[in-house]
Amino acid sequence: MAEVKTFTLTNDETGQSIKLPIRESVQGPAAIDVSSLYKEAGVFTYDPGFMSTASCQSKITYIQGEEGLLEYRGYPIEQLAVNGDFLETAYLLLYGELPKKDELAEFDHDITHHTMLNETLKNFFNGFHYNAHPMAIMVGVVGSLSAFYHDSLDINDPQQREIAAHRLIAKMPSIAAASYRHNIGAPIVYPRHSLSYCANLLHMMYATPCEQYEPDPIAEKALNLLFILHADHEQNASTSTVRLAGSSLANPFACIAAGIASLWGPAHGGANEAVLDMLAEIGDVSQIDKYIAKAKDKDDSFRLMGFGHRVYKKYDPRANIIRDVCHQVLEKLADTNNPLFELAQRLEEIALSDEYFIERKLYPNVDFYSGIIYRALGIPNNMFTVMFAIARTVGWVAHWMEMMSDPRQKIGRPRQVYKGHARREYIPISQRD
Ligand code: CMC
Repeated sequence: MAEVKTFTLTNDETGQSIKLPIRESVQGPAAIDVSSLYKEAGVFTYDPGFMSTASCQSKITYIQGEEGLLEYRGYPIEQLAVNGDFLETAYLLLYGELPKKDELAEFDHDITHHTMLNETLKNFFNGFHYNAHPMAIMVGVVGSLSAFYHDSLDINDPQQREIAAHRLIAKMPSIAAASYRHNIGAPIVYPRHSLSYCANLLHMMYATPCEQYEPDPIAEKALNLLFILHADHEQNASTSTVRLAGSSLANPFACIAAGIASLWGPAHGGANEAVLDMLAEIGDVSQIDKYIAKAKDKDDSFRLMGFGHRVYKKYDPRANIIRDVCHQVLEKLADTNNPLFELAQRLEEIALSDEYFIERKLYPNVDFYSGIIYRALGIPNNMFTVMFAIARTVGWVAHWMEMMSDPRQKIGRPRQVYKGHARREYIPISQRD
């Protein structure tokens, strides 16, 4: 048997030493297994924001932040992005291997035939105010799926888990499109089984009952690529939220709704919408210096949206691909003088030559250029994070499935360093001054 490496921790005050096992990884840093620390030494570890904490073992996605590398199941993101198909990537993330022809055809058929929504669900959309943010609708409606699909709620049954995973991947575009249609006061459009995953989303967003609609192949191709890039990103905030919710054995629909809520924040997936708001506010190249100064000012809450990342200390590889695709899409749409893209590129150039950003290794992330492509395709700003949520659902369900089939799975229950009052006696209200 291979010898387990250990890490010795010594308490400087008492001199007590404890040996902790090291969990080796295939690539990337190993982790000290501190799970026995409290039992053996009576102390917790303290790491707010999980700066140095591996919360689980996973075989799905690998990121090397210093070099800017991203791999799904060992395959470099650049190769999947150039050659791949979103459902092929979804299969890879869920099952660990690239599908053979017949496997992909079966998976595609299964996802396609789960795209319809229960008719009663339509009433839910009508319950939302007409100008509700589509992400608000998504959180509610996706959570409500647990009230409809009772035959896939037994989390101890691997087959039911798989059906729930397929349903979620299949129904996300239908719910997303219906959220958009409600927002603009248009009728909900049924899916078309003859279309690809991304073309069907465009169809459900833009078709009308009045005339024939054919999805634009440029838009379909661009969405396919953006969805591949967004499909997974190991233990990010929303995926960790899904895992934590799932660790209490909650049903998968509720867990994914929790993930959507977490994704919505502007520090995470909400950044793509915030980037376009920021570019609109900056307005012109002549204003960039003013906004760079605001971003550097510690008394100002303004941050350069779409910049910086907890893990990447080099250019986010997804942003690299998206910037190139941005050029291609705008060229194909004959929109080469797109002022937002010009402004974003100039902003990037100025920020990347500024000592503040260089020192802190702040580079454009996946959200910096994605909104410009979405906008060029006619997708409104408030749908950008919804697009992200559709793609990331694949990662969320892959992690949920991995966690649920792990025999070491335990409820996630962090501890704390208590800093409140020490024990004190209750004072009746009449005696309080
Ligand atoms: N603009 C200005 N300063 C920044 C920025 C930014 N966008 N990002 C980080 N910093 C500074 C920050 O003030 C801090 O400076 P100092 O060391 O002087 O206190 C330093 O850089 C480290 O930042 P941090 O907040 O400790 O880093 P973090 O790893 O906790 O946060 C982040 C990562 C992504 C939340 C952050 O960079 C940020 O808020 N970026 C803007 C929002 C954004 O684009 N989010 C999308 C992330 S990628 C896609 C996704 O997750 O969905």
